Amino acid sequence: MCGIVGVISKNNCVPILIDGLKKLEYRGYDSAGLAIQNDQGSDLQRARSVGRVVELEQAAAGLEAQMGIAHTRWATHGVPSERNAHPHISDSDGISVSVVHNGIIENHEDIRRQLMVDGYAFQSDTDTEVIAHLTHKNLRKGLPLLKAVQATVAALEGAFAIAVISNRAKRTLIASKKGAPLLVGHGQGEFFIASDASALVAYTKKITYLQEGDLVQLNADQALFLNAQGAEVQREIIESQLSADAVELGPYDHYMQKEIFEQPGAIAATLEMVSNASAVKPELFGAGAAEVLPHVQQVLILACGTSYHAASVARYWLESIAALPTTVEIASEYRYRKSVSLPNTLVITISQSGETADTLAALEHAKSLGMHNALSICNVPESALIRASNLKFLTRAGPEIGVASTKAFTTQLAALFTFTMVMAKLRGQMNAVEEKTLIAQLRHLPSAMQNILALEPQIKAMAQRFADKRHALFLGRGVHFPIAQEGALKLKEISYIHAEAYAAGELKHGPLALVDADMPVVSIAPKDSLIEKLKSNLQEVRARGGELYIFADRDTRIEETDGVHVLNLVDHAGHLSPILHVLPLQLLSYHVALVKGTDVDKPRNLAKSVTVE
Ligand code: M6R
Repeated sequence: MCGIVGVISKNNCVPILIDGLKKLEYRGYDSAGLAIQNDQGSDLQRARSVGRVVELEQAAAGLEAQMGIAHTRWATHGVPSERNAHPHISDSDGISVSVVHNGIIENHEDIRRQLMVDGYAFQSDTDTEVIAHLTHKNLRKGLPLLKAVQATVAALEGAFAIAVISNRAKRTLIASKKGAPLLVGHGQGEFFIASDASALVAYTKKITYLQEGDLVQLNADQALFLNAQGAEVQREIIESQLSADAVELGPYDHYMQKEIFEQPGAIAATLEMVSNASAVKPELFGAGAAEVLPHVQQVLILACGTSYHAASVARYWLESIAALPTTVEIASEYRYRKSVSLPNTLVITISQSGETADTLAALEHAKSLGMHNALSICNVPESALIRASNLKFLTRAGPEIGVASTKAFTTQLAALFTFTMVMAKLRGQMNAVEEKTLIAQLRHLPSAMQNILALEPQIKAMAQRFADKRHALFLGRGVHFPIAQEGALKLKEISYIHAEAYAAGELKHGPLALVDADMPVVSIAPKDSLIEKLKSNLQEVRARGGELYIFADRDTRIEETDGVHVLNLVDHAGHLSPILHVLPLQLLSYHVALVKGTDVDKPRNLAKSVTVE
């Protein structure tokens, strides 16, 4: 979702702004723009374009200045167009103000109405433009830029991150955040701002994460931080762990492909503390976990999208292995639903980014109902979700750039399985022998994953058959039903083929009516206690002419026949089977998308980090 970059430097900032925006492309956007101001304090210059950052780069050719702000926009208010692209400028009476913004201003209509009464004319359909005009109005009253932005921010309702420059304050960049991520990068005689560290690691690793309500004033040689109450504060500078290489594509064609193949390494890194030990310990989930976890009587898991599917797998594990009652909720539903809270509930939030607005709000809602123990399973160490939780487990997947989540999902599952083991042990549901066996299985996971990734050529061949299909069904049973849901999400997200997942037992309660020769049916067939029932469901599909694509464990004895395509997986993974079975589904959707020629890493209409509700 929208990306912000800002630079104040002694050198030309335009190449840094463009490069930073390119690094933020993965967040999803439909237009881009930048505004700059030179040291002479002459008028702001702006370039904007619809489409990719390379087009903005062309539009900005020849522009040069020491300070600027830039933005990739993911449309919320108003269609993607140059007119609606940021930065927005308010320019009259010799005062120019330029603003970039991520988030939503909920009271923008009221502010707009008043500004129009005051004589301001609006050039765009965005909610952002009110920020530019309101700041202009405050400057016109004689306030210095810092105070003018402060007054503007105080009038805004909603969640946002903003950056502002003006011809009224030479070499000054003001930024503020409330509910959307923003950080400051500290360089040598220069400062940067960005929505996430990936935009800056090529220039500096010294990062300050702005806190809720913070406002920062950057000059070339000084950063002044003010908290939500307007008091001057010191904010910690941390060394980002992100390496510049980690956000490069390397030898791969797409980030999604890179990230699919990084999974064995990502799982090994995530499980390092588990695989190298002989026992699991509560402390894996944070310093306070040993105190909190023994008292937990039920779990409430909140998440969105792929992370919700990881939560749904965890429900099967937690109830069947740890005998721990578990509820899983879509964060955007839970936050607005009247629900009953039980004592001794642990709230678990799962998120790749740790910035998903619905998940953050759902956690706050759970806390407001008295559930204060929160465990966050997250891939971004300094994210808002991690900061809002007293317990944490950091997945070590590395930056995930492709909009379609892959390695974040499997590392979340690895974390959730480890959590299941800890809870099973605490609740007397797992003995030492079982614990050792499961740790050995976790240790074997990376090589089992390699074996499945080696099946890519066969999956690529299968993908050809989906090229002309408009719909697909995904089937799974038990703990593999959420894996079927994840497979369907991946396919629709990047290939734009309509795909739905059903628990296979539900087939004859409705969806079977859809099955004919044009409806490919993808099924996960692990060798588990439900395999014979699943086979009957598959017969029902075949009997109606449906073409089957089955990812089966090796000894399920499902034969390949006319209209039945079977790919056998080498390893059995027992409880860990969902982590293996999702891999062929990721590869299938990747190759179908390639056949269809879609933009794999940046599918239409989607954003990587969904920071608005
Ligand atoms: O960063 P999060 O894990 O909180 O993101 C949640 C969803 O937006 C995300 O999983 C989304 O569904 C992915 N694009 C799926 O591939």
